[in-house]
Amino acid sequence: MQEEVTAAGNEISDSFRAAKHRSDQVLAELAKNPSRYTMLTGDRPTGRLHLGHYFGSIRERVQMQNRGVHTNIVIADYQVITDRDTTEHIRDNVLNLVLDYLAAGIDPKKTMIFTHSSTPAENQLLLPFLSLVTEAELHRNPTVKAEMEASGHALTGLLLTYPVHQACDILFCKANVVPIGKDNLPHVELTRTIARRFDERYPGQAPVFPEPDAILSDTPEIPGLDGRKMSKSYGNSIMLGATAEETAKLIRKSPTDSERKITFDPVNRPQVSALLTTAGLVTDRKPEDIAEEIGNAGSGALKAYVTKSVNEFLAPHRERRAELAKDMDTVRDLLVEGNKRANQIAEETLDQVRSAMGMRY
Ligand code: TRP
Repeated sequence: MQEEVTAAGNEISDSFRAAKHRSDQVLAELAKNPSRYTMLTGDRPTGRLHLGHYFGSIRERVQMQNRGVHTNIVIADYQVITDRDTTEHIRDNVLNLVLDYLAAGIDPKKTMIFTHSSTPAENQLLLPFLSLVTEAELHRNPTVKAEMEASGHALTGLLLTYPVHQACDILFCKANVVPIGKDNLPHVELTRTIARRFDERYPGQAPVFPEPDAILSDTPEIPGLDGRKMSKSYGNSIMLGATAEETAKLIRKSPTDSERKITFDPVNRPQVSALLTTAGLVTDRKPEDIAEEIGNAGSGALKAYVTKSVNEFLAPHRERRAELAKDMDTVRDLLVEGNKRANQIAEETLDQVRSAMGMRY
């Protein structure tokens, strides 16, 4: 297998490259004819959104929404219990996700936002879909394997089958484009298999389900402040909703190295380079140029620049967020509306599924 190493030190496999190529083709088509596309993507409500989420996905969702793609976001609350034993803070996490979506420019009049647990018709698709996959196929999913190992728990039935549930998320609203990170590629592949098998097994006048395409972001994976992957559990993430002071403190505490001259070198200087990458994204500048500008002024000057540019970039988001948070009743109402609508759409799809299966009584 041919492999290459990216700036972030990650390997890119041939299959990833093929998926990216396909994704670029679909995006080019989508740009010509946005209204022909239905997007569904989502988040697990396990915490707050950070800059990695913003540049990796939220920004693109807003763009698709504003171009006229039919856009849908699932807050995947049943996915939270795939590998953890508690739903503590889940309500708070869900409402904070909605706040960040809205502050980032998601318009609930254009984008349907809903949760698993409030859309029974969506969940019901799981039963026929489960009959279309084998246990061996489920066990082969590399993301499920990795998540099981990371959780340190026994493999639960839900962790094994959640990719099928994710197919329900995607197919109930007949989404044909699914923006995701590379971890989720096997799930979109499975979704395509399920769509195809359903229509083969229960052929009607017209296929019930489209075979959706994965959309992979162009943004390089944004590293956390310590150079590792940005992740809440590492405490290295800049939260969209944090205060300017919290952000300043986090950046001040972030580790660097003992070399005074600032250079952009992700392989040998991951920590300094993570700071430069972050500043590059929020200022839309090249990390190399920022490094050059700071030069011998050292990591103190670099951190000051990162703090200032991140806080400036996030200030409008944070202002809108604080404004919205004053009226949480309205935020909750938006979610109730989204749930109602999602359930209606799922009921219509379920009706087509029942018809195709000869189960209308
Ligand atoms: N598994 C996705 C994640 O961890 C979240 C998700 C749930 C999702 N359902 C989805 C993404 C449907 C795309 C489509 O980020």
